[in-house]
Amino acid sequence: MALSAHEKKQQAAAAALAELRDGMVLGVGTGSTVNALIDQLGPWQTRLRGAVSSSEGSTAKLRALGIPVLDLNEVPDLGLYIDGADEANPRRELIKGGGAALTREKVIAAAASRFICIVDDTKLVDTLGHFPLPVEVIPMARELIARQLMALGGRPVWRERIITDNGNQILDVHGLHISDPRALESAINQLAGVVTVGLFAARPADLLIVGTDRGIRTI
Ligand code: 5RP
Repeated sequence: MALSAHEKKQQAAAAALAELRDGMVLGVGTGSTVNALIDQLGPWQTRLRGAVSSSEGSTAKLRALGIPVLDLNEVPDLGLYIDGADEANPRRELIKGGGAALTREKVIAAAASRFICIVDDTKLVDTLGHFPLPVEVIPMARELIARQLMALGGRPVWRERIITDNGNQILDVHGLHISDPRALESAINQLAGVVTVGLFAARPADLLIVGTDRGIRTI
């Protein structure tokens, strides 16, 4: 049976719920797949100690459910982080940041002992880079960084009118064929004025839960 992308996201989100445990603090990502997860968190409202959120949008949805949203600085033991992705490869390396929340997402992924990524199967690729790679930059450095990204072989496009939750801007880098995600993540992170690049390769997902027409696939 052919499922819509939304149904596959709901399916992946439902499968991730099996990883929740009573009393835990849950790291919560951003985007439509994560919204499908939050929509299913009602029964966990009194069972979770709280959540750490990667965006103002997810925070509002969690609070509407009555789930306490905690400051990461008060959570030294974040057990689990669940988030979506824009692209994922078989090594569970990801492109993230389509929703402009990449910096807080990367911080929470770094803090969590376990990172589960939930996607529908349209997000799976052999080589990352078809989806434009988001880079969060300090506003004054935008054009400098754009020139440096061009020198790395990309075609950066300023995501105009978008200001991140951290007050910064986003460049979306088109035309990359990312054969070595870890090396490119490291190279872009070293450019002065880059806050975060949306490559999650140094810290990939530990588990990828993929919604497909034939049910759940895990990688
Ligand atoms: C937000 C993200 C999202 O995880 C990514 O954009 C996927 O979004 P969606 O679940 O809506 O497809 O990285 O910054």
